[in-house]
Amino acid sequence: MIIAVDGPTASGKGTIAKAIAAHFGLPHLDTGLLYRAVGRQVQLNEGDPDNPSDALAATDFPDELLHDPILRSEETGGLASRVSVHPEVRRALFERQRAFAEQPGGAVLDGRDIGTVIAPEAEVKLFVTASVEARAMRRWLEMTGREIDIPLMEIEEDVIRRDERDINRKDAPLKAAPDAYILDTTSLDKDRSIAAAIEAVEKALARQ
Ligand code: DC
Repeated sequence: MIIAVDGPTASGKGTIAKAIAAHFGLPHLDTGLLYRAVGRQVQLNEGDPDNPSDALAATDFPDELLHDPILRSEETGGLASRVSVHPEVRRALFERQRAFAEQPGGAVLDGRDIGTVIAPEAEVKLFVTASVEARAMRRWLEMTGREIDIPLMEIEEDVIRRDERDINRKDAPLKAAPDAYILDTTSLDKDRSIAAAIEAVEKALARQ
């Protein structure tokens, strides 16, 4: 059983995917982390994230990099979004994601193109979304909690910029699969979002 969880930046898809995985006892892969590792590796190589060959070379990142807390930073998120437009980068990361999805017991993957490209055959597809304002506010609260001082406006602009790049890229753009369940978390807190997601998965499984 494959459960695909897609959605824009700061929609809560990561938290939801993790909770679904724990609830159903399945392994979970945050595919954004792979793109973040490529973005960070380009920077370490002193390469240009907008240059396809520099970005492709960075897909060879060492596995330890996946555990580096710097991958969670806003800066690395921006670099990830930039390297992810290159089809050669997406191709290089494809097999790793497929192998994870094909584990015999099933898996939960979250990202932008899981239900559309990586695992279009997934039994359950969720597309988690929320308004730009709600997503920017959540990220701002999270950063303020970590004592990172950044104006809300700046985060909102970053969310919009990232959405634009992720939605408008030619290869595997961010979009809901036609058979995805759309979960709008704008007015839901974390616990209610998780409960709504688990209910949607259970309903989808009952329909199989
Ligand atoms: O989910 P995230 O914020 O960690 O993702 C960072 C960037 O990686 C995102 O802006 C676009 C890219 N990405 C992608 O293109 N495809 C995925 N399946 C996951 C992430």
